[in-house]
Amino acid sequence: MKLYERANKIKEFLEEKIDFIPETAIVLGSGLGEFAKEIKVDAEIDYKDIEGFPVSTVKGHAGKLIFGSICGKKIVAMNGRFHLYEGYVTDDVTLPVRVFQLMGVQNYIVTNAAGAVNTSYKPGDLMIINDHISFFCPSALTGENDERFGTRFPSMSEAYDKAFIAKANEAAEKLNIKVQNGVYCYCKGPMFETPAEIRALRTLGADAVGMSTVPEVVAAVHGGMRVLGISCITNMAAGILDQPLTHQEVMETGKMVEEKFSAFMKEIVFII
Ligand code: HPA
Repeated sequence: MKLYERANKIKEFLEEKIDFIPETAIVLGSGLGEFAKEIKVDAEIDYKDIEGFPVSTVKGHAGKLIFGSICGKKIVAMNGRFHLYEGYVTDDVTLPVRVFQLMGVQNYIVTNAAGAVNTSYKPGDLMIINDHISFFCPSALTGENDERFGTRFPSMSEAYDKAFIAKANEAAEKLNIKVQNGVYCYCKGPMFETPAEIRALRTLGADAVGMSTVPEVVAAVHGGMRVLGISCITNMAAGILDQPLTHQEVMETGKMVEEKFSAFMKEIVFII
């Protein structure tokens, strides 16, 4: 089945469970699922109960789709996402975005755990993504273009919506949270990068590095959605400190910033 038909079937299934169109889709990255507790839930659906939907295999990803509201705004949240390193193909990774697009969701907020490439950052920092680098990874739009989703050659000149970035900075200021604004670099994983790779990425202009987000963002922009991205800096990237990286560290920092992250996300949903 083509991605369009697959996404449309899931859209129809989900529309039977809810009676509203969410304005915003929020994707919760590794260790950031606690924010889901802030949602006034209308419907919660396990990925495994959605026919044709992939399932999360990563620790720290709950695997639930939650429809509800935050501060009176209708949203859908993905508690857990799909990564290419799990063995999924790009159609699987971008399927949720396409379902949201077909449902009429307008805004796409992505969050992720990321390593700091910029040595002035520190674990626990939040970074508003102002651009990304991913040219050494396969594009999410590889293959035949389906015009029903978007044009063959979409512009990525403003992948991250400038007005959303301004509003996210406003939200941080209001809450007195210090945030970074920087460039996210997508690496496929699942291994962490080497110190030489991190030095190379720094030279290229990356501030943070992670294993997700970009394929979804590319599909969302292709589909005409407005995107905002927030990285939670969970560790210094490889080679900056004299210690190896672990997924445990990523999860622990996620837990440490839970409160700050939830407050920030709530304010963002409220003001955008
Ligand atoms: N590299 C890649 N992905 C990550 C990292 C990292 O250092 N930290 C959290 N996700």
